[in-house]
Amino acid sequence: MKGIILAGGVGTRLNPLTEITNKHLLPVGREPMIWHPVKQLSGADITDIIVITSTHHMGSVVNSLGSGQRFGCQFTYRVQEEAGGIAHALDLARQFAGGDDIVVLLGDNIFEYTIAPYVDAFRRQEKGARVLVKEVGDPERFGIAALDEKHILEIEEKPDRPKSNFAVVGCYMYDDQVFGMIDRIEPSKRGELEITSVNNLYVDRGELEYSFVRGRWADAGTFESLNDANALLLGNDNRILS
Ligand code: DAU
Repeated sequence: MKGIILAGGVGTRLNPLTEITNKHLLPVGREPMIWHPVKQLSGADITDIIVITSTHHMGSVVNSLGSGQRFGCQFTYRVQEEAGGIAHALDLARQFAGGDDIVVLLGDNIFEYTIAPYVDAFRRQEKGARVLVKEVGDPERFGIAALDEKHILEIEEKPDRPKSNFAVVGCYMYDDQVFGMIDRIEPSKRGELEITSVNNLYVDRGELEYSFVRGRWADAGTFESLNDANALLLGNDNRILS
């Protein structure tokens, strides 16, 4: 199992904070944001990790993370030249994945509890993909899922009229079919290769399972949610609960 941290994009919603630094290097609690997904992956016994970020900030990201030694991990880095979407960034990890199962974390997603039990559930899953779901109060901001007891039935990206309050959060687990799925998707209206399009191809095969996120979760992409993420991690001294 390999880990993929996506830390590209432009972070326009956090301007002017993101004019001179990458969103994923902003502080949450006592540490840079990007340390959180690294610690989540290593806590789930995933230590072979690729970090994908933009040209402008790659130097600072490498300065912060280094080789991975201090985290007990080995890091590989790749540049995403333009913010072509989450699935576009993920495609840059194709060679690194080399046919293994992968766990993908969005670099701005903060979880109160360890993701290890969900990764273990995916390890037990025969094939397909697994996503994490959290009930939210502002579903227009997220990919929103319709569910049965075991499977996701449909995901709509940032719907005007959400059919549920279950957001698909930024932790995605895939088998080796995922890159073939990326080959089949088209850019959305906002010009991005959407991870929701990839996930819906797994839905079409009846192969997208889910787990509910335990405890608090924040997507630190706006000032309000950055504040929530900061409070969450500061309150726990940046420890991830198990
Ligand atoms: O946080 C969960 C949500 O993340 C999901 O519910 C949505 O389905 C998913 O599309 C995504 O929505 P956002 O609008 O919050 O995504 P955002 O553009 O903020 O990107 C999230 C992270 O993905 C960002 O921290 C870095 C990475 N990213 C994003 C883009 C667009 C890249 O690495 N490259 C990119 O080109």
